[in-house]
Amino acid sequence: MFAIASLAALTTAAAVYWYINRHKPLKHILSELRYTLDMQGAGVGGLIDDWVNVRRNKVVLPDARKKIAVITGGARGIGTEVIRGLLKANMIVIMGIRKPEQSKKLVESMENGENLQAYELDLQSLKSVKTFAENVIKKYPEIHILVNNAGIMFGDYKLTEDGVETQLQVNHLSHFYLTHLLLPALKKGGSLEESSRIVNVTSCAHYPGKIYFDDINMKEHYDTTAAYAQSKLAQLMSARYINHLLSEEGCRVKSYAVHPGIVDTDLFEKTLFRQMFPWAMKLFFKTPEKGAISILHACFNKELGEKGGLYISNCIEGISNRFSKNTDHQKRLFELSCKLVDLNEEDFGKR
Ligand SMILES: NC(=O)c1ccc[n+]([C@@H]2O[C@H](COP(=O)([O-])OP(=O)(O)OC[C@H]3O[C@@H](n4cnc5c(N)ncnc54)[C@H](OP(=O)(O)O)[C@@H]3O)[C@@H](O)[C@H]2O)c1
Repeated sequence: MFAIASLAALTTAAAVYWYINRHKPLKHILSELRYTLDMQGAGVGGLIDDWVNVRRNKVVLPDARKKIAVITGGARGIGTEVIRGLLKANMIVIMGIRKPEQSKKLVESMENGENLQAYELDLQSLKSVKTFAENVIKKYPEIHILVNNAGIMFGDYKLTEDGVETQLQVNHLSHFYLTHLLLPALKKGGSLEESSRIVNVTSCAHYPGKIYFDDINMKEHYDTTAAYAQSKLAQLMSARYINHLLSEEGCRVKSYAVHPGIVDTDLFEKTLFRQMFPWAMKLFFKTPEKGAISILHACFNKELGEKGGLYISNCIEGISNRFSKNTDHQKRLFELSCKLVDLNEEDFGKR
């Protein structure tokens, strides 16, 4: 009886979904359905991972006095708590944000807040990324940690001033470009005792993703869920490939990708889930403070020192999708990203 009722409910839901989207080709409807279901699966998997591994979600902050950390975003959400940890570790922290005046309340309220500086950065503009990187390097020619944290999730189809789909540019491409521009300073910051670190804040939402190499802006068929998954997959693949390039070059810089957990932040503002069940987010999701722990672990954990290229979740190696591990796909994405930021591949990370 229960099976029949479930089947009837599923069939009705599928029929309603098809009716609403009947103007679209069937292959697009099926693709959207797949992404919706797979994304729910990735989210539930992420929540289970957070509950199962709650004990492992711990970090020991070192004394990193006089060392320099750069982070994108951070006036709210997980980034604020990463900044709190970096400051507690006595680092000088430079945050790249759209409205630098928003850092004032952090400077005033945080322990070691006097070590926090904010420069203007809008990840929707490669020009802004370049200006930000130049300003940082002028003052700090040596950098020890770069946290590519800022991000957006979902929204309507929109191209940036650089002609790139917005989620891809904010989450992946601008961070890729920033990493390139700051790499000379990161190389100077790395030493034999301790490599500098690049930490890309990706997501378990990369799991259903694929890279649309032949239509990177997804013009043919825009599905905002697929675009978020693509951008987060791109961050993970870049962390791996850049780590590979740096170790081939013999540089003392390592690169990691981190899923912070499923965290109660404004990132979910465009989701139906937040509108319908805000209480469930409070109840079941991590706080931003807990979400920051795996990122700080990737910044500081000594045992990770030689293990660049890892995908970390709850302070251990997480389960990542197969596509992300394929070096041919990684190389292809690297080449495409260089092309999109107008860079010769052999010049990546070099002045
Ligand atoms: N929350 C989760 O469950 C979760 C799960 C997996 C991964 N993540 C990842 O964690 C990271 C942090 O997310 P969050 O949860 O802390 O989200 P959030 O609270 O919405 O914070 C996002 C941050 O990104 C900044 N940002 C957005 N667009 C920007 C732009 N064009 N230029 C510069 N900064 C920009 C925001 O700055 P403004 O204040 O100026 O908007 C804000 O500081 C993201 O990369 C996200 O994908 C989050």
